[in-house]
Amino acid sequence: MSNTLQAIRGMNDILPEQMPAWHFVEDTLREVLSSYGYREIRMPIVEKTELFKRSIGEVTDIVEKEMYTFTDRNGDSLTLRPEGTASCVRACIQHGLINNQVQRLWYTGPMFRHERPQKGRYRQFYQVGVEVFGLEGPDIDAELLVMTARFWKRLGLRDVSLQLNSLGTVEARAAFREALVAYLRERFEELDTDSQRRLETNPLRILDSKNPEVQALLNDAPQLSDYIDEASRAHFDALRALLDAAGVEYRINPRLVRGLDYYGRTVFEWVTDKLGAQGTVCAGGRYDALVEYLGGRPTPAVGFAMGLERLIALLENQRAAFPDGAPQLYLVAMGEVAQREGLLLAESLRDALPWLRIQTHCGGGSFKSQFKKADRSGAHYALVLGEDEVARREAGLKPLRERSEQQTVAFDALAAHLQQLFGADAA
Ligand code: HAM
Repeated sequence: MSNTLQAIRGMNDILPEQMPAWHFVEDTLREVLSSYGYREIRMPIVEKTELFKRSIGEVTDIVEKEMYTFTDRNGDSLTLRPEGTASCVRACIQHGLINNQVQRLWYTGPMFRHERPQKGRYRQFYQVGVEVFGLEGPDIDAELLVMTARFWKRLGLRDVSLQLNSLGTVEARAAFREALVAYLRERFEELDTDSQRRLETNPLRILDSKNPEVQALLNDAPQLSDYIDEASRAHFDALRALLDAAGVEYRINPRLVRGLDYYGRTVFEWVTDKLGAQGTVCAGGRYDALVEYLGGRPTPAVGFAMGLERLIALLENQRAAFPDGAPQLYLVAMGEVAQREGLLLAESLRDALPWLRIQTHCGGGSFKSQFKKADRSGAHYALVLGEDEVARREAGLKPLRERSEQQTVAFDALAAHLQQLFGADAA
């Protein structure tokens, strides 16, 4: 065993038996997104390192210590994307997608962060992300949050709650930052080493420290909400009024600041207490300055991303089963003639019934061993062919999941019979 190669720590295989849950989540999200008029975009997995440094921020955890960065054969510094927003903005600027037009986009795929792996935290993980460009009002922030609430409803996901905050403008945040640093400097000795380090580099991140002593210290610290500018406050109030009208519940968390530098105004996280320490399943906010900062025309923007592993783990706790995609029919064929006829019959059924999932037995063997495989495939019925059946141009149809008799159906009548049998399934 010691010689066999293993996957890299924190990078997981997703095995066939896990796929029904993945497909259910991906298909449901895709359906809801298109019902709101969002269009898919696909970006490369590798980008120039500079893109992430400039957008996520030089002194964030992601850029400081979590990126998979390497030099390629041309000597360029490249990075496996740790998130999708930066690439999406880059693509929109490059292809002129946001010149005088609104874009509602989504993407999915693997992201890479060299974090310490634990349950719900991986080094390769999948996100579905959503980005909207060209809209600055709170109505689009509300649409995104209403849409996420619809995701949970459609998935049947319970036990998630919404936390909301406004970071104000860059200037407002800078004034708050100064006041916070002054307050914490006076209490430097009471901070843990992590927060002491952050005080110099990224002091706002101290607000979401997990250390209760640091949290206690923050109770009397300056509050971000006291520094928010008037326009941002009005934006936030309007968003809250829309969420109230739509019946989306939320809690204002004044210490929610997020770990990426590009945010301003609205930030939010959907969290659960059912997944241990890694309880954020969906997170995002506004980033009105980023497009211009990356070289585009000034363009307001807002978006979020969901961690699919976390969503699926939560759903698996809550749902017994997912549509499994098992074959409806498994074709059992005894003897050379029946095998050849079986192949042709299966093809003609696929022609007639494009929705049909039919798996043909390959590799010969006794009826008994073929039925065993039919059973293991999860198929609902076995379609049985021997030389006699072929001679009579008919096939046996044997239920595998219930105790009832095998029927005999003529080749000619089979497609119509199956259509009736699986009609609801096929729709
Ligand atoms: P983020 O908060 O870094 O934001 O990640 C979004 C979500 O991805 C998290 O809430 C979590 O569900 C999932 N996630 C993050 N890291 C891991 C990990 N190591 N293992 C498993 N899941 C993880 C962003 O990435 C922003 N680009 C979101 C955004 C889009 N903001 C505006 N537009």
